[in-house]
Amino acid sequence: MSLIAPSLLSANFARLAEDIDMINRSEADMLHLDIMDGVFVPNISFGFPVIESFKDMCKKPLDVHLMIVEPDKFIENFAKAGASYINVHYEACTHLHRTIQKIKATGVKAAVTLNPHTPVSLLEDIVSDVDMVLLMSVNPGYGGQKFIENTISKTKQLRELIDRKNAKAIIEIDGGVNLETGKRLIESGADALVAGNFVFKSVDPVQTIHQLKQL
Ligand code: DX5
Ligand code: ZN
Repeated sequence: MSLIAPSLLSANFARLAEDIDMINRSEADMLHLDIMDGVFVPNISFGFPVIESFKDMCKKPLDVHLMIVEPDKFIENFAKAGASYINVHYEACTHLHRTIQKIKATGVKAAVTLNPHTPVSLLEDIVSDVDMVLLMSVNPGYGGQKFIENTISKTKQLRELIDRKNAKAIIEIDGGVNLETGKRLIESGADALVAGNFVFKSVDPVQTIHQLKQL
């Protein structure tokens, strides 16, 4: 059974409490939070005041996806904000090993994220140090984009790398996930799926999450 992390980016921010309540009632395993700075990605999302507003209400672990430059600056803040996972982009970290150690030192699980153009082979010397690898299946910045097909082969390569290294990292995929792409990702070795528009724009999001859980 797959792990499902709905992405809050596609929620209705004017009625955030209702959407958090829906997540609480659903079978979602985590709530995915997309943090964008307008520098690393061409968009700005939300920050600490918004997370503070729903943090005590949300019963699911927070999966924080940092699409920002210099993520080291904010690791402590996101740990204090209640993150269960902190995902940093490979492309944003010059000293990735140090950044991963810094996340772990706060007691939060550490994850590394790859953009669609970044090869899985670059993880050879870091995969054993992380709790999760997040593969982007769209170019980060926006919800509702089309799934990039090459992610299927990257997922298989990553599964092989993790198994060969006897590493413990779980594989999460983010972008353009629906029942069709989700099924093929799980068959290719993914453990967790992020879904934004497919969940929040559906008629019955709780039921949609249930269907994704069955993949
Ligand atoms: C994109 C974000 C994703 C996004 C996914 O930059 O990282 O988490 O919210 O949205 P969908 O599922 O609609 O592609
Ligand atoms: Zn994301």
